[in-house]
Amino acid sequence: MAACASPLLLLLHAALFLAAGCRAALDDPAGLLRRAKEAEFVEWMVGVRRRIHENPELGYEEFATSELVRRELDAMGIPYRHPFAVTGVVATVGTGGPPFVALRADMDALPMQESVEWEHKSKVPGKMHGCGHDAHVAMQLGSAKILQEHRDELQGTVVLIFQPAEESGGGAKKMIEAGAVENIEVMFGIHVVDIVPIGVLASRPGPVMAGCGFFEAVISGKGGHAALPHHTIDPILAASNVIVSLQQLVSREADPLDSQVVTVGKFEGGGAFNVIPDSVTIGGTFRAFSKESFDRLKKRIEEVIVAQASVQRCSAVVDFLDSDFSPPLINNPELHDFFAKVAGEMVGPGNVRDKQPTMGAEDFALYAEAVPRTYFYFVGMLNETRGPQAPHHNPFFTVNEDALPYGVAMQTSLAARYLLERGHGTASKVEPRDEL
Ligand SMILES: *[C@@H]1O[C@H](CO)[C@@H](O)[C@H](O)[C@H]1NC(C)=O
Repeated sequence: MAACASPLLLLLHAALFLAAGCRAALDDPAGLLRRAKEAEFVEWMVGVRRRIHENPELGYEEFATSELVRRELDAMGIPYRHPFAVTGVVATVGTGGPPFVALRADMDALPMQESVEWEHKSKVPGKMHGCGHDAHVAMQLGSAKILQEHRDELQGTVVLIFQPAEESGGGAKKMIEAGAVENIEVMFGIHVVDIVPIGVLASRPGPVMAGCGFFEAVISGKGGHAALPHHTIDPILAASNVIVSLQQLVSREADPLDSQVVTVGKFEGGGAFNVIPDSVTIGGTFRAFSKESFDRLKKRIEEVIVAQASVQRCSAVVDFLDSDFSPPLINNPELHDFFAKVAGEMVGPGNVRDKQPTMGAEDFALYAEAVPRTYFYFVGMLNETRGPQAPHHNPFFTVNEDALPYGVAMQTSLAARYLLERGHGTASKVEPRDEL
């Protein structure tokens, strides 16, 4: 070809190369990973993550985090809408028209004290980014920056959703109610994870994380002197038997091949060695992978608490904290194939792994009720040469910042490639909701 190319054509090619070729192509996941690993880019992103880490904010209080997100978007020239669900931000990059593909980052921290001594330790006593949502926000801003560099190549619109209150409070639900995901046909969510090696991307088709509910029960009797139990109705004994009976819901009533959990994590009552209290409060969580199993547990938890408490002449009132329910997280199987293909191009097929389902919960699952197809996956952080990695929700939890470029490049690639294939008609389509 070169032999018969005219000098003019060669010049044209050279100019095109200089204009576009020195940038990673949007449909080249490995190239985007190299871009996301550039020193200056990493330095900026790590700086963002550390600023968020120092100032952790709980659900619906992410005011400073939300402001930081908007300042960074302003600096990139990316338009956004705000507020959604108090602190949520919804930004858009691309044509502004359909198809719409969404990426989601959660912004909230946990009510726990950080025990890691380092320069950017949480400055707020009793609050910590103990699950890595600070990394999620930084990665999503990283994706925003790279997508914006390529905005003219996008064949549709990438919607960047920054959501409050993932840990509790139903942030995803409130974002949906506020209209954050209207017209979106596909949505990707990501989580950093402690047990998967760095450089590895992991997920699975079908169930990934369990449906999750919470309950609290007040078991009431009649208080009195501990030495005269016959004049009292002892709620501590009743609550103890309730807890033992609750354990049998999984061990005796659930199919052993259908994983479920019932855990009582709260037991409050009494304050003196020699006083039987009037009442005891217990609380816990229940998990299951199907709606049927979940609903069965919910019904039986209430029945068992009320009936078992009555055996010891106590009454019980059970409250299911419905705003904190999240359904099981089920990955769309076609999107899993799409994920595996794009991830394989980025990190090599050997570094795309199956992830076992876990009984942990994730409110990303709620988006499946409003978006036709959703997919959630994990970016590994474990680097054994750096020593052991404390688990999530642990006061010694740390984020391996080397993992951030993988998350950025993967989210960017998934969104851009989806729009590209959708434009070529090669992506398996769903009925577009917005006919234009
Ligand atoms: C793992 O950590 C070591 C030591 O910090 C580092 O040299 C290496 O590059 C890390 N590996 C990856 C894949 O990030």
